[in-house]
Formats: sequence, C-alpha cells, structure tokens
Amino acid sequence: MSITILGIESSCDDTSASILKDGVIYSNIIASQNVHMDYGGVVPELASRAHQQNIIPVVHQAMQKAGVTADEIDAVAFTRGPGLLGSLMVGTSFAKGFALSKNIPLIEVNHLQAHILAHFIDDLKNKYEHPGFPFLALLVSGGNSQIIVVKDHLEMEVIGETIDDAAGEAFDKCAKVMGLPYPGGPIIDANAKLGNPLAFEFSRPRIQGLNYSFSGLKTSFLYFVRDRIKENPNFIEENRNDLCASLQYTIVEVLMNKLKKAAKETGIKQVAIAGGVSANSGLQNALKDAALKLKWKVFIPQLGYSLDNAAMIAITGYFKYLKGEFIAQDAAPFARMTIK
Ligand code: KG4
Repeated sequence: MSITILGIESSCDDTSASILKDGVIYSNIIASQNVHMDYGGVVPELASRAHQQNIIPVVHQAMQKAGVTADEIDAVAFTRGPGLLGSLMVGTSFAKGFALSKNIPLIEVNHLQAHILAHFIDDLKNKYEHPGFPFLALLVSGGNSQIIVVKDHLEMEVIGETIDDAAGEAFDKCAKVMGLPYPGGPIIDANAKLGNPLAFEFSRPRIQGLNYSFSGLKTSFLYFVRDRIKENPNFIEENRNDLCASLQYTIVEVLMNKLKKAAKETGIKQVAIAGGVSANSGLQNALKDAALKLKWKVFIPQLGYSLDNAAMIAITGYFKYLKGEFIAQDAAPFARMTIK
C-alpha cells in the first residue's frame, strides 16, 4: 500500500510544507520571513502573523510540485514543538483542520528528533546513504546543542547538552557584537574563510562530562572586542575576517572535543551532524578530518534539509505512521519539548 504524507513546519520563522510518498520526498517548499531583518532576531508576533499569510500558499505549492491532490494524502504530520508558541499554533491549527476535513490521522513531530531523522531522507533526484544504528548525532541549532545516541528511528538518548546558550546562539550573538545582521551564523562562516583562525584567542568553557556551555565564550568575545575598540574605534572593520575565523575556530573546537569524548566513551564511530549550525563549513571540515584521523563514518545533511524544513517533519511522520503513532484533535503545541 502506498503512503502519502503532508509535513508542516512552523516552529520559528520559516513556513514549510512537504509531500512524501513511501519514504521519498516529492516536494519541500520553504517560505522564509524577511520581516525580522531589521530587529536583530526573530520577533514572535511578526513570525506568527507571517505564518498565517504563508501557510496556505506554501501547502498548495508543495502539493502542486508533488503532483498530489488533497484527497490523496493519507496523514498530516506537524511540528508540535519546541519553538515559538504563536508560530507553532499556526501549523498545528492548519494540520488539525486539514486532518479533520479529510478524516485522516494526525501525527505530532518533535522538531529536534526531525532534525536528526533528516538523515533518512531520499528525494526524487537522489538516494542518499543513511546512517546505521546506533549512531551519534550532534544536534546544533539556534536553540540547541546536544549529543544524542540514536538507537532507532524513534529511540534516542541525550548524553550531553548545553547548560546555557546554544552554539547557534553564540554565533548569532557574537555577530551582533560585530554589527552583523541576523542570523549571523552564515555570515561569520563566509567571513571566516578569509581570516586567520589563530589571530585571537577566546576563553573556552571548562565543563565536566559531555555537556556544553557557550555563554562564557560569548562574554569573553564581547569584552575582548569592547576593550580593543577603546584603543582603536575601527578595530572591528579592520579585523572582521580574523575575528570571525577565530570565533568559529573556537566554537568548532569546543563542539568537536565533546563529540570525540562521546565517541570514545560509547565506542560509536558513526557520527551525524544536524540542525542549522551543521551547515557551518568549519564544523563540516572538522568532522571530515575526524573521519580520516579517527576512522569515523560521518554524515552531513544536505543544505535544504539541515535548516528548518518540512521534509524532515514528513519523514519523521512517515516512521510514526508505520508504527501507528497518531494523536487526537485536542493536541496543543509545546514551546518546550525534549528528546525522550
Ligand atoms: O536549525 P535552525 O535553522 O533553526 C533552529 O534554531 O531551530 O538553526 C538556525 C541557526 C542560527 O543560529 C544560524 O545562525 C545558524 O543556525 N547557522 C549557522 C550557519 N547556517 C545557519 N551557523 C554557523 N554557520 C553556518 N553556516
């Protein structure tokens, strides 16, 4: 029997819809919101409003591109959390209305789990190599930095996580210190390619076990830049590339040190990265380097499936559909949700 799933993602500032047929992604439409550009971060009220405007056109486009009609959809999978509550409510309400009107099952998806399961996506153009179980996942985004043992599609255990800021947050906040627009992560990445990673040194966290901390690094960066500006008001402009390269080098080193420790302690040598920061070229290079030196098998997601997208919601929904994991119409979204 063929299975067609509509995936809906609206946890932050991207409205996305995707059609999956029998484990293969047929469409993945993403509408990004430019309204936040001037504010240095996502404004929740503006985000939910933009989701309201975008959701119907985005779903229509996803169905059109996939050549699927609403009557052919067997289930709707939606992001239940974590995320901005107002944003999540738009996707949740749409998914519930759609499922009710077509009398089809509703599937809740944990956004974090979905970032990891993006590694199981195949699309019409490509069949990718998928990790085997168990594997280690480094989940790094604007709100999360976690090391997870993935035992099966729907069985995951967090063995390390940040005790304060996320890695993406550190990129974005330090970018703000340098006067760069939001989100600063990709801009730091681009500038870092032109700079010297050893030009400046910032304090590294000393946290026991497999946990992370990035708030000290952010403060150290802020104080460093502030002190240098006192001596030279043009310090940022004159040193932007070196600042970006040194900051990125430090964040990547912190991330990789704990990941190597986790691989050593668990004996797992298959390692995947997931979440928005997995697009970072420094992190990707460090992972490839570890693959050579430590004989890891590494998995780096395709760009279209690493940032927030509905294809990862649809593939997670597919695995849940196969297990009959549906939820009732009274389901409400959660701003906070963890991987169990
Ligand atoms: O997963 P994501 O799209 O959204 C959530 O946080 O759920 O991740 C967004 C984060 C932002 O902090 C952004 O700056 C960061 O991912 N990011 C990057 C890069 N691309 C996106 N950080 C560093 N280098 C990049 N190339």
